[in-house]
Amino acid sequence: MNPSAVDELTLGDYLPRFESFHAQVANGLMRRPKMLPAKFLYDKTGSELFERICGLREYYPTRTEMGILSRYAGELADLCGPQCMLIELGSGSSTKTRMLLDRLCEPAAYVPVDISREQLIEAAASLCGDYGPLEIIPVCADYTDGLRTPATRRAARKTIVFFPGSTIGNFEPDEAMRFLRGYAHGGGCDAMIVGVDLRKPRSVLEPAYNDAAGVTAAFNLNLLRRINRELGADFALGRFYHRAIYNEHAGRIEMHLVSRTEQAVRLGRTRIMFEPGEPITTEHSYKYTLAGFANLAVCAGFEVGRVWTDPRQWFSVFYLKR
Ligand code: TRP
Repeated sequence: MNPSAVDELTLGDYLPRFESFHAQVANGLMRRPKMLPAKFLYDKTGSELFERICGLREYYPTRTEMGILSRYAGELADLCGPQCMLIELGSGSSTKTRMLLDRLCEPAAYVPVDISREQLIEAAASLCGDYGPLEIIPVCADYTDGLRTPATRRAARKTIVFFPGSTIGNFEPDEAMRFLRGYAHGGGCDAMIVGVDLRKPRSVLEPAYNDAAGVTAAFNLNLLRRINRELGADFALGRFYHRAIYNEHAGRIEMHLVSRTEQAVRLGRTRIMFEPGEPITTEHSYKYTLAGFANLAVCAGFEVGRVWTDPRQWFSVFYLKR
């Protein structure tokens, strides 16, 4: 990382505090079935593990989406037009963004938004070095709380919200609708570029979320380690295992942490009881059909400008206009 580049960055820091993490974890574990919000998977270790997942042989989404973006970056850039502001939700390492930034015509600003502060600063600093005059405004936030468009030095002609990685699939369909609606109706967004994973056979889907090397399992279990460390809980990691199943009826991968035994876990002053085999749901990953997602986008108030896919139609990138 280039330290002088870091000095030039001003971080917009809106990260929720301890109380909110504690409350959301406690509420989730009190529910039946138990659940934990997936956004908390991304602490420093979690973000590193997720980067490794993206490179796994079994995890096709990242590679496939990158293929689509690199192939159609020129068309995407034409649709975005000159001097746009690009806001990326869940920017992580900002690897995919580079494909767009390389082709955009004089972009006004790039606003990476991520919940993982360290990764955000590192990624923004490395972009600073590579894209000289581009204004980069990193924002550390939980973007599901809503977002204000930051002020830029140069006025932007269009504001484009970039939401890759099929993270939209991690929302329940009604939440996805509300989320898209927020951008379709609230000012401040002219278009969205959304990565959407598509339905495919179970034999491809399940290994993508349960790799042979166990990186996904480590990623999922790291959430319990984080809760132990930050909230003073006493989850015994060996007493839970990672499970991913494709629920074909609902069209979604369900990620669980399953209790191996009957056990009690302490979270502060609360005791949480587990039955043998009882799951905690950590994430759903919905897989859409092209028509199904187009319909969702239209119901949310967008017009589908363009859709690109790969030859096998495993993944898609939507350009949605207001
Ligand atoms: N957005 C990613 C996806 O749905 C997140 C993800 C990949 C994930 N593997 C995971 C989340 C394992 C929890 C556990 O593909």
